Amino acid sequence: MARSIVSIDDLSNEEIEAIFRLADQYLAEMGTPGRPHRVQGRRRDAESYILATIFFEPSTRTRLSFESAMLRLGGTTISSADPNSSSAVKGETIADTVRVCENYADLLVIRHPHEGAAKVAAEYTSVPVINAGDGSHEHPTQTLCDLYTLRAAQKEKGAAPGIESLRDMNVVIWGDLHHGRTVHSLVFALARFGARIIPLAAPGCEFPEHVQQRLARDYNCFPLSRKDVDSLPEDALPADVLYVTPDQPHQLALISNVWFQLSEKQQASIRSIKSIDAFYSTRLQRERLAPGQQVGEYPVIDSQFLKEKKYRQAQVLHPLPRVDELSYDVDQDQRGVYFKQASYGVPVRMALIAALLELQPSLLGAERKRNYPGYQHADGLECSNSRCVTRQEAERRYLVPKFSIVDANVPILRCAYCDHEQRPQAVGRASTHKYTTELAEWQQIHAQDLVFFLNEQQALNAGYQLKKTGRSSSSAALAAQPSE
Ligand code: NCD
Repeated sequence: MARSIVSIDDLSNEEIEAIFRLADQYLAEMGTPGRPHRVQGRRRDAESYILATIFFEPSTRTRLSFESAMLRLGGTTISSADPNSSSAVKGETIADTVRVCENYADLLVIRHPHEGAAKVAAEYTSVPVINAGDGSHEHPTQTLCDLYTLRAAQKEKGAAPGIESLRDMNVVIWGDLHHGRTVHSLVFALARFGARIIPLAAPGCEFPEHVQQRLARDYNCFPLSRKDVDSLPEDALPADVLYVTPDQPHQLALISNVWFQLSEKQQASIRSIKSIDAFYSTRLQRERLAPGQQVGEYPVIDSQFLKEKKYRQAQVLHPLPRVDELSYDVDQDQRGVYFKQASYGVPVRMALIAALLELQPSLLGAERKRNYPGYQHADGLECSNSRCVTRQEAERRYLVPKFSIVDANVPILRCAYCDHEQRPQAVGRASTHKYTTELAEWQQIHAQDLVFFLNEQQALNAGYQLKKTGRSSSSAALAAQPSE
């Protein structure tokens, strides 16, 4: 089965470094004289391959850098870049689109407004799929460009070469952290590489709950509470919350009071934060705001702001396009690396394409496995996120909601497509059509037979009856039970 990249988690740390080494090689061999971050010329490695870019949302950098990367590798590109001229306007589903397009190309790069769309695409085709942005969810290849830029900056500062140089970096993530897909993929990667994440959200644009839950659950990466931050020296931090990855894994269920769970060494290292290594600025994602949604004062980076001592070494990154959050007066500053970051899009995407098309031997290993048990059933619970691909009218014709059980005790289900989490309130057996609110019982039910419900009403609506336990049940169920 072809490897696809729909989340940054689809690549291991070692694979990311292998892709970066190949990108280094392309830059060394094809770099433009005087502009070493820009590749020029054409190889022949991919001459028998075609890449398709299928974009249902606007794009300049991502689509063109993918197409440029494929052309520089010697391959050919085809493109459907205008959603209004594709069959989606006629009601075609993602599954049908990719099943058709796999006959025209060897690699599909897809951008779509619905969260989880790239995963659906990957499930319905036999050629590799790359997620070029799925709604507010993820944008893993932008993260590769971001990490590559940070790695290059660290190397210039004298750090040992390699992605490991990101460990203990202090990175401020700036702007619209709620709707921006680039920052979501980026924080998961930063957490994995052991960087400290300092979120500075515009008021009303804080990280969504599912991102915070995933940071905590999957990466052991927790925010310090306000109290903890207040107890730090005054000049230590520029923001309200700091996410840290404890150096010892531990089993925490709660994310408050984390300070006391950290080792002495970790506490000392946080106290010693005196400077910022990088700012990652992002624009307000206006197109994703709810109707009438207001956003507080949006943070702006300009040359005046960068004069502070603690920002002396800070690189300024931005996925672009910028609007007002990053002043043009930073363009002349050595620390503004955002155009380099955009330029790295070509060698990094060349390396990713080469890896997925296996133009280079053994760059990628086997597909990464998730640690959580899966759950899927057509009855019962659906994803709580209305922007999830599983909730869209066209895709509902064939998609069955699918989840990972990320906390077996409670239990907590995470949508396999968009990562939103929820707690079901009832569990049933499909074979008997009985349900119970004793949620721990799910562990005794065979996977094929297991059905989770959002609440009792949903179970009753699906024709399930409350299982008799001898204990008192909730009023909703009693009211709906026929007298026996
Ligand atoms: C970003 C995107 O599309 O998510 N752009 C990009 O791919 N470089 C960021 C944005 O649109 O703000």
